[in-house]
Amino acid sequence: MGTNKNESVTILAIESSCDDTSAAIVKDGIVLSNVIASQKVHEQFGGVVPELASRSHQENIVPVIDVAIKNAGISKEDISAVGFTRGPGLLGSLLVGTSFAKGYALSKNIPLIEVNHLQAHVLASFIQEPNENVAMPKFPFLCLLVSGGHTQIIIVRDYLEMEIIGETIDDAAGEAFDKCAKVLGLPYPGGPVVDREAAKGNQLAFSFAKPKIPNLGFSFSGLKTSFLYLLRDKLVVNPNFIEENTSDLCASLQKTIVDILIDKLVKASKETGITEIVIGGGVSANSGLRNAILATGDKRGWNTYLPKLKYTTDNAAMIGITAYFKYLKGEFSSQEISPLARY
Ligand code: KG4
Ligand code: ZN
Repeated sequence: MGTNKNESVTILAIESSCDDTSAAIVKDGIVLSNVIASQKVHEQFGGVVPELASRSHQENIVPVIDVAIKNAGISKEDISAVGFTRGPGLLGSLLVGTSFAKGYALSKNIPLIEVNHLQAHVLASFIQEPNENVAMPKFPFLCLLVSGGHTQIIIVRDYLEMEIIGETIDDAAGEAFDKCAKVLGLPYPGGPVVDREAAKGNQLAFSFAKPKIPNLGFSFSGLKTSFLYLLRDKLVVNPNFIEENTSDLCASLQKTIVDILIDKLVKASKETGITEIVIGGGVSANSGLRNAILATGDKRGWNTYLPKLKYTTDNAAMIGITAYFKYLKGEFSSQEISPLARY
């Protein structure tokens, strides 16, 4: 198990924390391939069904890895380490990726590298493809991490040195999108659908309660209730209220969520004096949030870094890039390792 820094490092990365089975090949910090099999079975249930998710991971994992290796144009013998998502996520789903990674590393006698899924979302802005020269954030930077399960502001002092300075006390931003979309009768996951609808609507049509949480904390459960009450009251007068106002409702909801996020990010930047600003996680795909970060950045003199859309939601490329940084530091895992639902 050599870790000579001069030799080429090729990482097979596996992500299986929720409902996407993904594999990537990362060579010397460059993403050669990134394959994602999204599970459609959950749509009919309006949310992820854990038992079905782990079963789909079992069916998908081998073909997804095969395609990732093929697309990268490498052979299995070139792989120098296996990186995998240890958590947080659904235990049954994590088990599939973890077991495969352990078995693969053992059979090839190569290092095994556990990756924290959230840390990987933060590092997605360091993903680079061949013949690309991506502008990368400089340390220390602030990351607004917004996913389906988490909403945090993090100070990132080095690739693997992170400190959470603010987080949600209840729902995550992604949950706020998904839950409100559900009451509008939109399909799961609601975030991307709200984003598309919002583009056609008036963001000032409705206003919703904004939380009064001190410091750098977030809260989204009050917004959800306020959204629900508005619908309840309006539907009494007009049973077609939702159908007639879907895009305005989506635009106003999105604006409220984005405002809440940006307010705290500005506060965090002022308090820390850090103006290198990064976003990550599924909600960082949101066009309203991306535009607001760029506009706020222009106004405040921030350097802003937005990951490519395909690297915002769950993907193995971000796991591979994180595993690469851990490889360089010699941070390997033992065969005794097991997944963690909460990290
Ligand atoms: O990071 P991610 O793929 O999975 C977790 O680690 O949770 O994030 C999924 C979340 C979901 O809540 C989904 O609705 C949201 O990201 N999302 C979006 C958009 N694309 C994905 N939310 C708002 N606008 C989008 N365009
Ligand atoms: Zn995620």
